[in-house]
Amino acid sequence: MIQTIRGTKDILPQQINQWQFIADVFNKISSNYGYSEIRTPIFEKTEVYVRGVGDSTDIVNKEMYTFTDKGGESITLRPEMTAGLVRAVIQNSLLSVSPMQKLWYFGPFFRYERPQKGRMRQFHQYGAECIGSNFPESDVEVIMLADSLFKAAGIKNHKLLINTLGNDSTRTVYRNELIAYLKTKTESLSEDSKNRLEHNPLRVLDSKDPKDKEAVENAPYILDFLDTPSLEHFETCKKLLDASNVDYIVQPRLVRGLDYYCHTVFEFQSDALGAQDSLGGGGRYDGLFQQLGAKQTPAVGFALGVERMLLTLEAQQNLPQDEPVADIFIVAPNIELQPKVQNIATELRNKNLKTVTDLMRRSMKAQMREANRLNVKYTLIFGDSEAEKNCIQIKNMNTTEQIEISLDDLNNFQF
Ligand code: HAM
Repeated sequence: MIQTIRGTKDILPQQINQWQFIADVFNKISSNYGYSEIRTPIFEKTEVYVRGVGDSTDIVNKEMYTFTDKGGESITLRPEMTAGLVRAVIQNSLLSVSPMQKLWYFGPFFRYERPQKGRMRQFHQYGAECIGSNFPESDVEVIMLADSLFKAAGIKNHKLLINTLGNDSTRTVYRNELIAYLKTKTESLSEDSKNRLEHNPLRVLDSKDPKDKEAVENAPYILDFLDTPSLEHFETCKKLLDASNVDYIVQPRLVRGLDYYCHTVFEFQSDALGAQDSLGGGGRYDGLFQQLGAKQTPAVGFALGVERMLLTLEAQQNLPQDEPVADIFIVAPNIELQPKVQNIATELRNKNLKTVTDLMRRSMKAQMREANRLNVKYTLIFGDSEAEKNCIQIKNMNTTEQIEISLDDLNNFQF
């Protein structure tokens, strides 16, 4: 039998309620913060990611689903949104409509990673990007938005780690210091980190390999290299976070895996997740617009993993309850009565009552059994004698109480 591709999953009808619940939270909280939704294609020219995300990152180096299409163009299934969203903002001149663009998105993303709990090859992200301000207020707004989303979805005990990577000059000085330090430890580094040493030394800092963890224990801290504007930016972020109700921990080793970050970087984690404990993360990316050929534009944003949110809610036994597919089942065994049954169903559906009828020409008993299985609130019985009297039986499935009303009164009945 043909199976799904490794690392991908069907989202089945019995899980869809959870996804719709989460989507409602995304919609509501984003608009509470004044963010508008944007949808972009799920594939882009490969160049968007090579130039945007950076060719020294794992995402671009190892994880992209890239193929040549029939026209000979190199295409990539989006591994993340930020680069493609910036492409869309530039292409559609959104910043000339308003110099401040606050955008959110929700959809599927693709990375060729080794699948494990919380790590998939097709996964879903929600993200928000605040474009146009280089002030710390915007960094803190996206952090508060992320925190509000987790809280509104019912996630408990998530942790927020923050750090700063400073501006370009901070990073150049720090990078050199770090390379010099790591070179004294080359022997003890993992193979991956040995390879990263020259082209992406900051990534060695957040390696999960125990050998690397030990080797970087005494590495210099970027916080000691910040120039005055970078330090001020970070201090203001912390001050604003202190004033909000969002708890945070400064984690001086946090760097994150994408090349476009500068200044604030942050990550939300949950103990409920196991090894893949990152619920979401983000940071400032003031250089990305230039990287993609536009004029320098400050921006900050984050993305969260929807599957990881659901795993956390499941572990915390806080997933929303399954909802019955229908409120009302109309039991009507005589197929001659079908035209009338359809009219009754339409009348109820027009009142936003979820109403189903039997489509399998089953017996009265089998239809009653189906109504029970569907866990409906009311069963309406419409047989020959009811049709003759122009009435219908209404059975309340909770109380088992059954009454008969005239069909003319059905529209006014309080279900
Ligand atoms: P990221 O850290 O690569 O950041 O991904 C954000 C979140 O997506 C992760 O924290 C995780 O919850 C989820 N995620 C990533 N990969 C997988 C996977 N293979 N399976 C399941 N979940 C996954 C970004 O993508 C940046 N674009 C975030 C950002 C937006 N920065 C600024 N703006």
